[in-house]
Amino acid sequence: MDGAALMHGAVDRRAFIQRAGWVGLGAFGVIGHGGPLGLGAIRPAEAAADVREILLETRQVKWELSPGRTITAMAYNGRVPGPEIRVKEGERLRVVLKNSLGEPTTIHWHGVDVPNSMDGVPGITQKPVPPGGTFVYEFEARPAGTRWYHTHFQEHRQMDLGLVAPLIIEPAGTEPFPFDREYTLVLDDWATGAGRALPATREGTAGGRGEMGGMMGGMMGGGHHSTPAYDTMTINGKAYPATEPLRVRKGERARLRLINASADHTHVIRLAGHQLRVTHTDGNPLVEAVAVDAVPIAPSERYDVLVNADRPGSWWLYCAQPGHAAAGEQALLVYDGREGRRPDAVKEGTAGLHLWHYSLGQGRDVLAPASGTVRSFSQTLSGGMMGSDAWTINGKQYPSTDPIAVNRGERARVRLGNMSMEAHPMHLHGQSFAVLSVNGQRLAHPLVKDSVDVEAHMGAVDIEFTAHNPGDWFFHCHKPMHMEGGMIALVKIAG
Ligand code: C2O
Ligand code: CU
Repeated sequence: MDGAALMHGAVDRRAFIQRAGWVGLGAFGVIGHGGPLGLGAIRPAEAAADVREILLETRQVKWELSPGRTITAMAYNGRVPGPEIRVKEGERLRVVLKNSLGEPTTIHWHGVDVPNSMDGVPGITQKPVPPGGTFVYEFEARPAGTRWYHTHFQEHRQMDLGLVAPLIIEPAGTEPFPFDREYTLVLDDWATGAGRALPATREGTAGGRGEMGGMMGGMMGGGHHSTPAYDTMTINGKAYPATEPLRVRKGERARLRLINASADHTHVIRLAGHQLRVTHTDGNPLVEAVAVDAVPIAPSERYDVLVNADRPGSWWLYCAQPGHAAAGEQALLVYDGREGRRPDAVKEGTAGLHLWHYSLGQGRDVLAPASGTVRSFSQTLSGGMMGSDAWTINGKQYPSTDPIAVNRGERARVRLGNMSMEAHPMHLHGQSFAVLSVNGQRLAHPLVKDSVDVEAHMGAVDIEFTAHNPGDWFFHCHKPMHMEGGMIALVKIAG
């Protein structure tokens, strides 16, 4: 098994730690003396026995997306995506970031209920980490689930260049959906300038996920000034034919953790010959698995799916969005003993497929119990008119947007309405929320998520969270160009 497979396949934690060398994390978390980065000097005074300590170094690397397509990327510990961090729920994680880039950076722990000061938002929760500088992030890893980490400094540039990685928090108790083997798959879009530009994903996926015509409709658009021409699509940092094949054995149940780290594109993931059984939305478990043919995933969303390996052969795992598989977003899933046979070409498009959409799922009630006063807010998402780069909430651009101010223990209900012609995957820092309704349809069992895709052209979503994590938190569109264009509001939790 090579490094990539080790990193993203069925991972033994210790082995990963040793193989990743510079991650240099001892079993009980004490950094060695000096270590590969010479970080001894900044070792926190008390290295408690139950802290898992990890060193991450950001720096520029040459990264080969596929044979002949090498780019200058930004990487955590030399790889794209960065190393998968795995911890147990409730474990204390200490990440020492050393910034060896020529520019500042920070790390945001997406989907993790970190203390506010660990949230990685420059100017709000910390100063940017300057070139050559270090910063120590420390928090209890919770809640369990497929989380991720990424830069929160000039995301449009730094995320696009590769500063993204998985963070898997394994449940302290039993897994609600047992599996035999697992793979983490980070999906990403790249503007290399070397390939044919793919049409932007404009329309959303939230409610009308069945109407993929909408998503294809993006092809007709003119393209905004700020949207780069994405031409390469990757799975774990590689475009086919460089993608790593997935191995399964007949009779196994394989778990795929799908993370969409793309700036712009929704991916519609499909495994030929098999159904995908959706078990988690943004890391949070459903009551029961939902079997579908394909799963649309908006930027920053995660889905965990199970595959029953009951059709021996060699199959394509790929994105059904037109052009995406050809741009690299395909990998082989090979049953043991069925190596060597290449399947027929992938089938683009979603006609006739049963697609995942929000109202198919029943979320488990895993959020802090809802008590206290309910406060209601409403946010109209708009902007991008006539190719403008301005994106607004209630007509204002951050930092002029109105904050959502609540006290600890109160419930905040936010109605999101999209008056623009592009979908907005809205992400809340610091805590997850319940998705109460989508395009006017109430969900009997709200999904638990931290990003929700609000469809273009009057899409509407109601969310609710119990304000349990005090501080100032970003709530923003996860498409970096929209975020940088102003589509950010603060959630201020007093207490
Ligand atoms: Cu993954 Cu502020 O975001
Ligand atoms: Cu947006």
